[in-house]
Amino acid sequence: MTPPLVFGLPGNERLARELAAALPGELGQLESRRFPDGETYLRLRADPRGRQVVLVATLDRPDGKFLPIAFAAGAARDLGARSVGLVAPYLAYMRQDKRFRDGEAVTSADFARLVSASVDWLVTVDPHLHRYHALAEIYSIPTRALAAAPLLAAWIARNVKAPVILGPDAESERWVAEVAAGARAPWRVLRKARHGDREVAIAFPDLGGFAGRRVVLIDDIVSSGQTMLAAARGLAERGFAPPVCLAVHALFAEDAAAALAEAASAVVTTDTVDHPSNAIALGPLIAAGVAELLEA
Ligand code: R5P
Repeated sequence: MTPPLVFGLPGNERLARELAAALPGELGQLESRRFPDGETYLRLRADPRGRQVVLVATLDRPDGKFLPIAFAAGAARDLGARSVGLVAPYLAYMRQDKRFRDGEAVTSADFARLVSASVDWLVTVDPHLHRYHALAEIYSIPTRALAAAPLLAAWIARNVKAPVILGPDAESERWVAEVAAGARAPWRVLRKARHGDREVAIAFPDLGGFAGRRVVLIDDIVSSGQTMLAAARGLAERGFAPPVCLAVHALFAEDAAAALAEAASAVVTTDTVDHPSNAIALGPLIAAGVAELLEA
């Protein structure tokens, strides 16, 4: 069969190259620029006719990224692609999964409808599933949610002596237990109450038995950094050394990275979103997930 044709949207060229090499597929060039008035020009510089097309675009800061994806998918379809899929290592808009106040947009469902209308399948990593149990509840296309937990566990086992793993909230309990089992470490979860975009209060369980262990705070997303900062502050008050902060998706709004670097002994993330803290490469995991989906 003709190999899939992989296009990296701007900023995603590295992962597109890795995917094209691993699948194996053909790397297609995509030309994109802004017109002086801010609108997008987009051109596929490889012929998608009859091909399985893979678009690669992680979705941090998603508002400016979605239209180019929709345009690339539209062009591929118009030009006769057999199928068009999206690899979005970080999937945006999963956290507004409920109407918390009257009149709010439930953006997780709205965004899922837009993506589902634009592409034929979606591969992502650790989407924030809190009130939803699976992407299928809001996405109407085939999806694969890949799990970074085994790679986080392996990183901890290799790099942290005598760790204790702490998760941010009750909802993370299963995920935290899975990472901890892989790292052969004890674990607990904190209790988080969010009072605003940057206001987070953390309650601690009894950590009495863990004196002398190195705390590894894990979370799926670091955004404002306030969850990890509040946890690190609470740990210091309880006499623990600065923790290792480990997350999947390095969103790091504004000054979050600098503030966290001061409070942590190390800040480590996967490469779903490019950031200086990236130390866990997910290219092979993503390539395996995409290959499986293309075969299916
Ligand atoms: C939310 O429930 C997630 O698991 C993260 O804890 C959250 O997105 C982190 O956000 P922030 O860095 O803004 O505290």
